[in-house]
Amino acid sequence: MSIAGKRVLLIISGGIAAYKALELIRLLRKAGCAVSCVLTAGGAHFVTPLSLQALSEEKVYTELFSLTDESEMGHIQLSRSADLVVVAPASADLLAKMAAGMADDLASTLLLATDTRVLVAPAMNVRMWLHPATQANMMLLGQRGVAVVGPDEGAMACNEFGPGRLAEPPAILAAIEVLLAEPIRLPAPGLRTLEAPRRLAGRHVLVTSGPTHEPIDPVRYIANRSSGRQGHAIAAALAGLGARVTLVSGPVVVADPAGVDVVRVETAAEMLAACQAALPADAAVFAAAVADWRVAHAAGQKLKKGPDGAAPGLALVPNPDILATIAAAGPGRPRLVVGFAAETHEMLVHAQDKRARKNADWIVANDVNPASGIMGGTENEVHLVTTEGIEDWPRMDKQAVAVRLAERIAEALA
Ligand code: CTP
Repeated sequence: MSIAGKRVLLIISGGIAAYKALELIRLLRKAGCAVSCVLTAGGAHFVTPLSLQALSEEKVYTELFSLTDESEMGHIQLSRSADLVVVAPASADLLAKMAAGMADDLASTLLLATDTRVLVAPAMNVRMWLHPATQANMMLLGQRGVAVVGPDEGAMACNEFGPGRLAEPPAILAAIEVLLAEPIRLPAPGLRTLEAPRRLAGRHVLVTSGPTHEPIDPVRYIANRSSGRQGHAIAAALAGLGARVTLVSGPVVVADPAGVDVVRVETAAEMLAACQAALPADAAVFAAAVADWRVAHAAGQKLKKGPDGAAPGLALVPNPDILATIAAAGPGRPRLVVGFAAETHEMLVHAQDKRARKNADWIVANDVNPASGIMGGTENEVHLVTTEGIEDWPRMDKQAVAVRLAERIAEALA
């Protein structure tokens, strides 16, 4: 629906995400919507009244007891002249003030005085968002008919990961359009979450993760040191962007990511069968450390030491290459196939060779020298090898790598 001719009162509270309010104003203005901005003292640490004024082309309100503002437009009138009040970013502090009914600055006073619908876009540190106090405040606000968009999940400015990031400006705009299309002003019971249209909604992505275990006999197996952390984090990040994710995982101790279909397997042969059963997929990410070989004839009973104590000879045969099988050209090939290359030397040469040999679109290459501490650790330093060349990403948390890769996948599938 068109929001042209409508008026939004935009309250910008404190937090690093305040800069995104500028983009929101630009989107609203482009849609023909008038925007009056109110900047809290906290918000003014991150954006200036001047930049808000330049983009909104209107006076920006910052002080409760400004006589000029009072003579031009009283705060009651300001709060009621809009078709919708939007708080973006909404800090934990401002949400708490709203829940408590406080009115000690212009923003909280307007929010208490308004009879207009209110949409909040929270943005804060993940612990602050998950704190029972904030969650209780959100429940209370929801009961009073306040709508919410976001927060998104992802890597945060404070180097943590989880929910707390401000919803992207296009998602906030979409939520504004939904609310402005609704004629009712009465509070709706329960917290009203306006789902942002997420970038991978409607897409199916297959992810492999963890090691495989190749049996020698019923009690022994060949394995490797993969923890599954990187693959699981990728599955979580893709689900966070709205994808339907099938995670085919070898034996790992890390927890299943929320909102992901997990298929547990042991061997490479089982992993291949599970991947084939999960197709079709729009994209596939092969993060598993698949054993290259398996024992040709695994014993049905535990191998016993012979009278001479000699070690049994284990004949090994190659495992199927899951990535190469799924990436082979054909009608069922996912549109984007991403492989990993774990190397100890000449990393980029091997990665480029693997990309060509396995018909992958991208290879995420990383150094697994024990000195790098990457294999089994929490951080990763990767190089993304694509048709366009090689991107060197800085060393970061595996979850941050996952978020960045998921965002790149969303761009590629757009
Ligand atoms: N891979 C796979 N199936 C296998 C072996 C590897 O799907 N049987 C995938 C991995 O998940 C990874 C990529 O192939 O995405 C590269 O794995 P890697 O073990 O580094 O490559 P290999 O082909 O086994 O090469 P090498 O061991 O010679 O380095």
